[in-house]
Amino acid sequence: MPLPPLDPHRLRAEFPALARLHDGRPVIYADAPGGTQVPRTVTAAMTAYLETSNANFGGVFATSRETGELTAQARAGVMHLINAASAQEIVFGQNMTSLTFAMSRALARTWQPGDEVIVTTLDHDANVAPWLLAAEERGVIVRTLACTPDDLSLALDGLTALLGPRTRLVALGHASNAVGTIVDLAPLIAAAHRVGALVYVAAVHYAPHGVIDVRALDCDFLACSAYKFCGPHLGILYGRLALLESLTAYKVRPSSALPPGKWETGTQNTEAIAGLRACLAYFGGLGADAAPDPLSRAALVAGMRRIVAHEATLSQRFLAGLATIPGVHLYGIGDPTRLAARTPTFGFTLAGGTPRQVSERLAARGIFVWDGHFYAKGVIDQLGIAEQGGLIRIGFAHYHTLDEVDRVVAAVSEIVG
Ligand SMILES: Cc1ncc(COP(=O)(O)O)c(C=O)c1O
Repeated sequence: MPLPPLDPHRLRAEFPALARLHDGRPVIYADAPGGTQVPRTVTAAMTAYLETSNANFGGVFATSRETGELTAQARAGVMHLINAASAQEIVFGQNMTSLTFAMSRALARTWQPGDEVIVTTLDHDANVAPWLLAAEERGVIVRTLACTPDDLSLALDGLTALLGPRTRLVALGHASNAVGTIVDLAPLIAAAHRVGALVYVAAVHYAPHGVIDVRALDCDFLACSAYKFCGPHLGILYGRLALLESLTAYKVRPSSALPPGKWETGTQNTEAIAGLRACLAYFGGLGADAAPDPLSRAALVAGMRRIVAHEATLSQRFLAGLATIPGVHLYGIGDPTRLAARTPTFGFTLAGGTPRQVSERLAARGIFVWDGHFYAKGVIDQLGIAEQGGLIRIGFAHYHTLDEVDRVVAAVSEIVG
């Protein structure tokens, strides 16, 4: 049975931030690729945790037990969200960047001088710099896969040309946080595995916009961040269990020797983990028609499918609107028949204004957007637009409405005019 379309007007009431006014007009948070707003259940869960159950886990007393239980539930929820085989494969940490630096150090211990790693120009630097630094330390050669010039994606033949018997790791992004391309990862991962390389996927930008299935992808690692999908600031790392078990973690000696604990250095941000559990329940609640348990895979996938369908309507409307404005240069996929290959994140420039000037003019109208490179240094450099201030990035989330898209388009038109 098809799920009913998402009604953003109904769910917006759950997000207190969306009621904010700027000079009497409602704010439009088109900065969603930088960070999303959170439902009130997330903040309530964080407050309730701190007020009633605040403790480290591992103790024999009630608050410590409660902390352990909520952490286990959040971990199981993430396992279902990304279809991992075991909750032991889910590691929490400060953010994606810190988790990736930690894992790069552990993986680099297994590399020999003359080995090779592959990074891409489409990725956020958090999935590039850790590998560059680790490679430098170990005398490892770095190869860079440039993105395809027309649609700013990653091509299989491009990757195949770089792979070799000494490739140890391929770092790939699930979707571009600068231009919104969704990468068809499965064939790239299969090619990397054919030469014996491991694959590390950054799914930070993809997570709020699509169903993740680490088993279908067959990736070895996948990292994302809850603040990009309506949760608190918390990093999440999936690792194949055998790898999490066998690799050496940089950890203190008394902490657990088993995953995930061996990878969770120091005291965890348990209030954020409480918020994450509530955030997953919110997403699963959007799929409640499919399954009553909001933390089940069925509910989470159903909720995400409704989001994907709604966001496609936003993308279609935005692309149609942008096409009517003279002087717009959209980078990446603009073809309205290819909405499944992009997120509702748009990187563009406007004749007659730098990205900074345009974002300032939008901010004055209560429309919050980012400009610049968004740490996606590779693609901005490849496009040769760093000097002119990078891109204007307008990005929507599932809580945005078509009316908001129209207001953004009208504002961009006005700025051009
Ligand atoms: C695609 C992508 N990868 C990695 C990151 C870094 O994530 P974090 O802020 O959790 O370190 C971001 C943040 O914007 C991102 O968009």
